[in-house]
Amino acid sequence: MSNRKPIIAANWKMNQTPTEAKAFLEDFLPRFPEETAVDIVIAPSFLSMPMAAAQIVPSKSVALSAQNMSPEASGAFTGEVSAAMLKEVGTSYVILGHSERRSLFGEDDAIINAKVKAALANGFTPILCIGETLEEREGGKLEEVLKSQIQGSLADVSAEQMVNVVIAYEPVWAIGTGVTASPEQAQEAHAFVRGLLKETYNDDVAAATRIQYGGSAKPENAAELIALEDIDGFLVGGAALVSESFAAIVQAGIDQVS
Ligand code: PGA
Repeated sequence: MSNRKPIIAANWKMNQTPTEAKAFLEDFLPRFPEETAVDIVIAPSFLSMPMAAAQIVPSKSVALSAQNMSPEASGAFTGEVSAAMLKEVGTSYVILGHSERRSLFGEDDAIINAKVKAALANGFTPILCIGETLEEREGGKLEEVLKSQIQGSLADVSAEQMVNVVIAYEPVWAIGTGVTASPEQAQEAHAFVRGLLKETYNDDVAAATRIQYGGSAKPENAAELIALEDIDGFLVGGAALVSESFAAIVQAGIDQVS
C-alpha cells in the first residue's frame, strides 16, 4: 500500500442551496473527528460556499473547495469568480477541468492550464479532472486522451508545484450514469496516469501525487476501489448529496488506511 493520504471530495455541482448545505453539514460534520486518516473536501456551489464555510472552516475536519475559478485576478469578467473572493471565504481546493466544464462550457486544456496555474499561484490545491468519453475509449484512444489532457492542463507546472496538485480520473461514461468503471479499468487508467507523471516529471512526483477516482463512486463500490494500488480517493457527485452516503465513502477510505 502507498503512503499517499487518501482524499475524498464531494462535488455538489449545481445542487444544495445554502439552506440545504447547512442541513447537510449539521449532519455530516459531527460524524468525524478533527483529525482523520483521510482528507475530506466539500465543494458547494459558489453561492452556498459562505454558508458552508461558516461550518466547515471552524470544524477543521473538512476542507472547502470551489468547483471552478477564473484564471483572471479581477476586472470585467461578468459572471466569474476570482481567487481573491474564494480565498476570503476560506477555500483550500478548486476543482478544475471537470468534464461538465469541458463539454458543456467549452473549456479546453489551455483554459484549464491557465486556471491551474492561477490556483497554484494563489495557494490553492487544484483537483484537476481528466477522463475519456465512451467513444474515445471504444475507439482505442484512452491513453492518447489522458496524455494530452495531463500534458496540456499541466503545461508549465513544475515538479515542485505538483506537491499541491490532486488529479481526478473520471471516465465521462461513468459520471452520473450509475455505471462505475470496473476495478480493472480504474486501476489500469490510474496506473497509466501515474506513468505519465513519471514520464512528464519524475519518480517522486509519480509516487506522491494523489489520483482520485470519480464516476458513480458510491458506498457499495468504494472499499473495493480504494483498495487498489493507484487509487487514492474519490471525487463524488450524486452519492455525496446525502450525508450518510458520503460519510460511508469517507469511512471506506479511513478503513483502508487503518
Ligand atoms: P457522480 O459524479 O459521482 O455523480 O458520477 C462524479 C463527478 O462528476 O465528479
